[in-house]
Amino acid sequence: MPQSRTFKSLMVTGGCGFIGSNFIRYLLTEAGFSGKIINVDKLTYAGNPLSLNDIAQNYPDQYQFVQADVCNTDKIETIVKSFAVDGICHFAAESHVDRSILSPQPFIDSNIVGTFKLLEILRKYEDQFILFHHISTDEVFGSLEDTGYFSETSPYQPNSPYSASKASSDLLVNAYANTYNLPITMSNCSNNFGPYQFPEKLIPLMLLNALASKPLPVYGDGKQVRDWLYVTDHCEAVWTIMSQGLMGETYVIGGDAEKQNIEVVQEICDILDKRWPTKESRRSLITHIKDRPGHDRRYAIDCTKIKQTLGWQPKESFETGLEKTIEWYMNHQKWVEKVQSGDYRNWIATQYDG
Ligand code: NAD
Ligand code: DAU
Repeated sequence: MPQSRTFKSLMVTGGCGFIGSNFIRYLLTEAGFSGKIINVDKLTYAGNPLSLNDIAQNYPDQYQFVQADVCNTDKIETIVKSFAVDGICHFAAESHVDRSILSPQPFIDSNIVGTFKLLEILRKYEDQFILFHHISTDEVFGSLEDTGYFSETSPYQPNSPYSASKASSDLLVNAYANTYNLPITMSNCSNNFGPYQFPEKLIPLMLLNALASKPLPVYGDGKQVRDWLYVTDHCEAVWTIMSQGLMGETYVIGGDAEKQNIEVVQEICDILDKRWPTKESRRSLITHIKDRPGHDRRYAIDCTKIKQTLGWQPKESFETGLEKTIEWYMNHQKWVEKVQSGDYRNWIATQYDG
């Protein structure tokens, strides 16, 4: 029988980012979490407290935000002690592959050093903790050809500075679990999509550009394949592992929804054309640009382990998730304007156009 864990005081790192904010909302509004959540986030360009305004208002006794860098051991230690933290779900990271190619340093700092610093705190306050859950990515396994799947036993072959930094953090996590016998679980997930995703990532970028009749920049031939998972399905998987996963185990998570990038972009265009027709189909905005250096060709996940041992499976298909995502972005213009007010996109786009 799966074990069941109850947390009184859960620290979520990176909770102002895309998945972290969805996770906190999921815990409080769907999973019936009754403890306290301390959201620790540095607020990089990708962190946005606006994403949890409703939660801060509706759950003042259960939810607390503290701005802090996970590398700042003094500050994190103070939080761990003063809130009697008994669990950590570690999302905080630099997450965008293109940025890691152009400027790797923050990835080394936050993803590798940041995870190391948290593990040291876990080691120091071991008796206080029920669990440390480390959030990772399928990108640590490298790239697949046309066939095959990543699983928990796939070898690590990261290709980008981002995936190498995540792989390094995973190795540290496993080393700390083995060497110090610390209470740790880990998950490696495929591409997430859904509400509150920063619009530098494929789906929100294409969606917002298409609505604004701007070019849709597809890298290379666009035939690279990603496996897509709606974000609340990922949140549910993480919570299932945290509550019931076997101590020391890793679980891979995916959506059984492999798509070529070009198919994703075309699908977005077609949905928008159907709802808000324009003179010319939005597919005419698709522009093939220079490929991402070292671009992984295909990711695909065999998540038999989490399905069979913990009974998790995704609730949304790619199509239902995409409809919900489009609906959300249409109804959250204020959030979109706020995050688009930086010059982040221009910076990225000028590097790859050519
Ligand atoms: P995101 O970029 O949207 O959010 C990251 C958050 O972490 C931001 O709020 C940022 O301010 C915060 N952060 C960054 N460095 C920090 C630091 N040093 N200290 C404290 N906070 C810091 O990222 P996301 O897409 O939500 O990804 C969250 C996690 O999930 C990451 O670990 C990522 O590797 C992993 N992941 C993401 C996906 C995906 O498709 N987005 C898939 C699998 C795994
Ligand atoms: O697989 C999980 C990973 O998914 C996570 O670990 C990362 O944090 C997350 O960013 C994501 O990485 P990708 O590189 O796969 O995501 P991105 O949205 O940047 O790109 C998806 C695919 O689309 C990829 O093959 C590159 C391509 N792409 C992306 C952008 C932004 C384009 O063709 N054009 C674009 O403008």
